[in-house]
Amino acid sequence: MKLVGKVAIVTGAAQGIGRGIALAMSKEGAMVVVGDVIDKTADVVREIESSGSEALAVKANVANGKETEEMARAAIRKFGKIDILVNNAGIYPYRPLIDMREDEWDRVIGINLKGVFNCTKAVLPKMVEQKSGNIINICSIAGAVVGFSNLVHYSASKGGVLGFTRAAALELAQYGIRVNAIAPGGIETPGTKVGADEEALKQFAQTLPLKRMGQPVDIANLVVFLASDDSSYITGQLLIADGGFTIQ
Ligand SMILES: NC(=O)c1ccc[n+]([C@@H]2O[C@H](COP(=O)([O-])OP(=O)(O)OC[C@H]3O[C@@H](n4cnc5c(N)ncnc54)[C@H](O)[C@@H]3O)[C@@H](O)[C@H]2O)c1
Repeated sequence: MKLVGKVAIVTGAAQGIGRGIALAMSKEGAMVVVGDVIDKTADVVREIESSGSEALAVKANVANGKETEEMARAAIRKFGKIDILVNNAGIYPYRPLIDMREDEWDRVIGINLKGVFNCTKAVLPKMVEQKSGNIINICSIAGAVVGFSNLVHYSASKGGVLGFTRAAALELAQYGIRVNAIAPGGIETPGTKVGADEEALKQFAQTLPLKRMGQPVDIANLVVFLASDDSSYITGQLLIADGGFTIQ
């Protein structure tokens, strides 16, 4: 149990990678605030509680600074502190650049990049007061390592998240706060299944050196590592988990 007594906020935790992260952190002893804009957070909280751990569901849109501040306040009211923030909420609507509208660009940047700013700002006063904290940003190989067609807004947002991670890590080290990022490759989630062709996904998996799509637990295990003292000398870094996609 690597996270006993720790309080973690995970955004976008109702499903997919975020849900996997919330479950993995609770298994390691953390109390988890399960944040999302959709209502399925209650199911994740029940799952955590049925295994004997504590959790709290909070409805918050990460693109809205008032809602993220309220999420941080709810965490403090319930658990008294915030040790870990996992900025996971994100969207990836495919759209060719030539057809991309300004409102579509703003929505992706607002959730994926400004959301990281909003949530980090919301937890910072408590972490600075505690003189300790741990922020983990779920980035992507898209934008942080390679480019992806039809995802220019998404790639720009995730490239931004990597820059944010490095600069914030530099600035916050003096308060005992570490900031790191994880770049997943193709992970099987409800999000990646929307409108996806099962056969094309299987074929894609066969092009990967490790010959499989990733699972949420592949990312959750890395989050537990970055959130625990096992990584206490690591800050400002990007860890890539992509089945070998970017080494080809
Ligand atoms: N799945 C992949 O292949 C993959 C690859 C690289 C990076 N990622 C990143 O991992 C993260 C999770 O992706 P996923 O595949 O699990 O997605 P998903 O769509 O399955 O789940 C995302 C969750 O985020 C929530 N969410 C969306 N907008 C929100 C908002 N404004 N405020 C709060 N919550 C919001 C959704 O309701 C949903 O529960 C994203 O940041 C994504 O960019 C995913």
